[in-house]
Amino acid sequence: MEFPSFSVEGRGALVTGASKGIGRHVALTLANAGADVVVSGRDETELAEVVALIRALGREATAIPAELADAEAVKRLGAEALAACPRLDILVNNAGISVPEPALDQSLDAWDRTLAVNLRAPFLLSQLCARHMKDLGGGKIINIGSQSGEVGLKDHAAYCASKGGLHNLTRALAVEWGPDNINVNCVAPTVILTPMGQMAWGDPVKAQGMLDQIPLGRFGVENDVSSAVLFLASPAGDLVHGQILAVDGGFTAR
Ligand SMILES: NC(=O)c1ccc[n+]([C@@H]2O[C@H](COP(=O)([O-])OP(=O)(O)OC[C@H]3O[C@@H](n4cnc5c(N)ncnc54)[C@H](OP(=O)(O)O)[C@@H]3O)[C@@H](O)[C@H]2O)c1
Repeated sequence: MEFPSFSVEGRGALVTGASKGIGRHVALTLANAGADVVVSGRDETELAEVVALIRALGREATAIPAELADAEAVKRLGAEALAACPRLDILVNNAGISVPEPALDQSLDAWDRTLAVNLRAPFLLSQLCARHMKDLGGGKIINIGSQSGEVGLKDHAAYCASKGGLHNLTRALAVEWGPDNINVNCVAPTVILTPMGQMAWGDPVKAQGMLDQIPLGRFGVENDVSSAVLFLASPAGDLVHGQILAVDGGFTAR
């Protein structure tokens, strides 16, 4: 009899936005489950800390700093990650930014940066990694979307547009790359109390307004998201494909 396996032993992963928050926890979770991990972000001190923690778990780790708003830097990151970890078959497109402001006041710069980091960078990295995964016989691409990719949120026009785009990009790539055994899925969290979550929802009045719309009545922690990512990255999630897995306490179930 076969039972589910949540091991990623012998696999290689690239996690963007791994210097802090959700990405950092995802990188450590994948390492704890057996993967070697390439971590990216911009804060080199924080990345060095994550590398040390992964090595303490007995896995190989490489830090590659990159500015994901810059398309050429994204391509460089992809090439360097594949050189550092030739068996890379898990990509977690986690890095993201949010610049909350009323749509009428949204600057062109904030719009362009949000779309570049949250949508263009995941596409470019997926393209680079999928070519490599195809040669390896398959792989797993996991995008970190948001409940904001499914519904509209006040003061989040660019963010909602970027995450909605990422959700449907997930489905489009799943259709195209399924025959190459490349699983493409997305995890869509509610508010998670990371630096970004604190920035956007730290105000108690605002927080209560959001909490009132979450049937489970709580915000998430990093582990809630990492659990879903590990499921999708592992053999246990092999037949889950092109899906947006909500980790939102029921926010989008209403
Ligand atoms: N927290 C939430 O409430 C929440 C809810 C739903 C979805 N999400 C999504 O979950 C993902 C992770 O969010 P988080 O809460 O962990 O955010 P966070 O605490 O702000 O961390 C963001 C990470 O992304 C990296 N990053 C940001 N801009 C970058 C850029 N221009 N180039 C390269 N790296 C960049 C940061 O690196 P440096 O700090 O090193 O620059 C950091 O490692 C995002 O996609 C976010 O949209 C978060």
